Amino acid sequence: MTIPATMRALQQTSLAGPQDLRLVTDVAVPIPGPGDVLIHVAVAGVNFVDISQARGTFAHGPCPPYVAGIEGVGVVVAVGEGVTEPSLGTRVVGVGITGGAFAEYMVLPAAGAVPVPEGWSDEDALGLLVNWPTALAALRPLGCLTRGETVLIHAAAGATGQAAVRMAVHYGATVIATASPDKHDAVRALGVDHVLDSHSNRIADEVLQLTGGDGADLVLESVGGATLEASLAATRRVTGRVVVYGVAGGDASISGWDLIYTNQVHVIGLNIGTLIRSAPHLFGEVMAELFHLVAAGVLGGHRPTVYDLAEGPKVLAELESRATTGKLALLP
Ligand SMILES: NC(=O)c1ccc[n+]([C@@H]2O[C@H](COP(=O)([O-])OP(=O)(O)OC[C@H]3O[C@@H](n4cnc5c(N)ncnc54)[C@H](OP(=O)(O)O)[C@@H]3O)[C@@H](O)[C@H]2O)c1
Repeated sequence: MTIPATMRALQQTSLAGPQDLRLVTDVAVPIPGPGDVLIHVAVAGVNFVDISQARGTFAHGPCPPYVAGIEGVGVVVAVGEGVTEPSLGTRVVGVGITGGAFAEYMVLPAAGAVPVPEGWSDEDALGLLVNWPTALAALRPLGCLTRGETVLIHAAAGATGQAAVRMAVHYGATVIATASPDKHDAVRALGVDHVLDSHSNRIADEVLQLTGGDGADLVLESVGGATLEASLAATRRVTGRVVVYGVAGGDASISGWDLIYTNQVHVIGLNIGTLIRSAPHLFGEVMAELFHLVAAGVLGGHRPTVYDLAEGPKVLAELESRATTGKLALLP
């Protein structure tokens, strides 16, 4: 295959958000360095991290101008020095945390480029390395969810939230979900026990009422801001766990005083990139369990909503304004 010198891509030109994401047609095709592969992108996954990077709120994020997008699926068309696997022609899914997926070609670290399983479409593989492992790590091993426990899942209609709900239902938990009201039907269809309005300021009271005053055993906290306070108040004292993995609604803080005198709960931070680097054995276990869940029909088979690359700025603006449901993807 002949690789062109330039390509179509979505370039983030400022840290003012998706309004400054621009379609360009003359970006240089990247060259894979040692340990990297170049893929011809078939489909790119949209993630909330794209918003954080476009707003400059992602720690050590890329500096504009940069080609946006972290999650790509495609065929390996060139390999850098020292790379033997994946070989040329292999269809892979991978994450490049500094961007590059919203383009015709993307560089990925070879070590993190996972072959797309036999029989899966390109779109099936979206979520495999970002949303699903994050949701599973939050439920187990970090959240230690067991059958019969109650879990509160925020942003339950979103890409990560839907995966978390499916798995929590499968594991035999009682699931209390939060979502914007227009997404409640989509969340109910996943089999949740209760769904609450994510815009309400009574979430903690409602969870306590639903749990006979005990609170949830586990909370998947991806919203931050005022919602973190509600999550802490809605968690079972002493044994309850709050796994914090997102701040979509803004940052929030917890004091020592808070944990000793107000919310006696376990607070656990989750960053999937750090988990991969610092606890590879745990990530291996998470991925093995994910493939087991796919084989059992718990995950997969739920197609993302796909848009042309040119619609990227609109799609990201909708994700930021809470107007979307499920996994979103762009076709370069
Ligand atoms: N730590 C990690 O390693 C890691 C990895 C993957 C994802 N994440 C985090 O997981 C969360 C979900 O990511 P995703 O890509 O699957 O996105 P998503 O859930 O598809 O979309 C975000 C959802 O968050 C909810 N939300 C609540 N308050 C919000 C606010 N003020 N602004 C925007 N959205 C708000 C909205 O749902 P409702 O309107 O229905 O409430 C919105 O649809 C994000 O916080 C993301 O950063 C973290």
